[in-house]
Amino acid sequence: MQNIIKDIDILPEQEVQGCEFTTTKEEQTGKSKKLYIESYGCQMNFSDSEIVASIMKKNGFDTTASFEKADVIFLNTCSIREKAEQTVRKRLQQFNHIKSQNPSLTIGVLGCMAERLKEKLLEEEKLVDVVVGPDAYRDLPSLVMSAEEGNKGVNTFLSREETYADISPVRLNSNGVSAFISIMRGCDNMCSFCVVPFTRGRERSRDPYSIKQEAEELFEKGYREVTLLGQNVDSYKWSPQENNKARLNKKEDAVEQIVNFSNLLEWIAKIDPKLRVRFSTSHPKDITDDVLYTIKKYDNICKYIHLPAQSGNSRVLKLMNRTYDREWYLERVQKIREILGEDCGISSDMIAGFCSETEEEHRDTLSLMEIVKYDFSYMFYYSERPGTLAAKKYKDDINLEVKKRRLQEIIAKQNQISLARNQRDIGKVQEILIEGTSKRSLEEWKGRNSANKVVIVPKGDYKKGDYLKVKIVDCSSATLFGEIVA
Ligand code: SAH
Ligand code: SF4
Ligand code: F3S
Repeated sequence: MQNIIKDIDILPEQEVQGCEFTTTKEEQTGKSKKLYIESYGCQMNFSDSEIVASIMKKNGFDTTASFEKADVIFLNTCSIREKAEQTVRKRLQQFNHIKSQNPSLTIGVLGCMAERLKEKLLEEEKLVDVVVGPDAYRDLPSLVMSAEEGNKGVNTFLSREETYADISPVRLNSNGVSAFISIMRGCDNMCSFCVVPFTRGRERSRDPYSIKQEAEELFEKGYREVTLLGQNVDSYKWSPQENNKARLNKKEDAVEQIVNFSNLLEWIAKIDPKLRVRFSTSHPKDITDDVLYTIKKYDNICKYIHLPAQSGNSRVLKLMNRTYDREWYLERVQKIREILGEDCGISSDMIAGFCSETEEEHRDTLSLMEIVKYDFSYMFYYSERPGTLAAKKYKDDINLEVKKRRLQEIIAKQNQISLARNQRDIGKVQEILIEGTSKRSLEEWKGRNSANKVVIVPKGDYKKGDYLKVKIVDCSSATLFGEIVA
């Protein structure tokens, strides 16, 4: 799952400062109390905050954009790297300072850090009132209520069934054009470096009828793009037998069939040709040719695949327990190119300096990048996480300076490749979907092409949510610049 703020994530972590979170917006629907949520980590966490806002709204809370006005502050946290947890702890200290002046304020820690640390968080952060893990958000209103009466509460129960399928999320940071839909929760792949299986629990797929309904409702409200989210979307699988709980929103003509990811993509693509479909994250071991052919078949399924490699060396991949090797990965990339063509966007996640990685093995990562020619990547240095397989089995033996240097080399390589990939687009005519005004200038739109690249164009007589045909005339390593084609 890619993290939301790309520009920040590609920086070495020590340089990350401020604003790597999103907050709630101001709502005035006449509720008596105010909720402020700050969300960290991956897109799934941001999506969860929308579910939390929906649950709290039913229980008398409007969201607010300023924490000073809030009766309840939630931090929806991430544990993926140590730095992510440090950021949250610093923020908690600031909120605790506010609480010492306003004792009626309730502070809650949600998400992956809540799940990882459980009761320990209440001991360590004395002014936190509630600690709630990702599968227990339905319990938030009652935990908040008892916190208001002075009783602290923890619920970090991990479920095998919860998918929040019936909850209609309150869109928090949306541009009104693109929205994210969680299609599954948890992860069953025990990648040795990764804390997610411990913080998010077992993998489970959400009822496809509820996913389709959510996408249809978004389209009716004017949204033009949905991104289907899961830690490993290719293992999406839903069958009426396995999910014998009462099915939601079942249409009269619904077929009793097993729905895999390829089927689901097709269902969503058929809603309307003007609804773009994206998805993240694809796992190299699970992405099938069938999925690739479905992507090819529908113009509105975007030609872009986030296919994290993590490393370009087979021995390191084995230690990482990724269950594929370099050759397998390259074969999958070759298939993508064969079926979806050279213009299909491919991006990756890379980890520098995993346990025992040699210089030569690091160079294998650089050479893999060279061969695949990723359009962009999210790049990190390895951060040992307590409780993971790697923390138990391997020594975190690459010193920080070396990790940082290897990361810098990976970033430099990616920048070079991104620029070359973008230069290939110059002169081409592409379709973009307008997402909003460019940060650079009020006179320009920011849109995205099918391959997920940001394209800046002059505004002309168009509006947010319009599709435009543009000719690419210039680029940097991060952005394409276009002219509107009449
Ligand atoms: N499900 C996704 C990844 C989710 S976590 C997948 O399998 O690709 C997002 C990214 O964070 C991972 O792809 C990995 O590159 C990075 N990451 C995870 N654990 C890490 C750790 N301990 N140290 C550094 N980076 C890590
Ligand atoms: Fe973590 Fe691996 Fe699951 Fe991704 S697939 S969330 S890296 S365990
Ligand atoms: Fe996402 Fe961070 Fe949890 S990346 S799943 S919020 S550990």
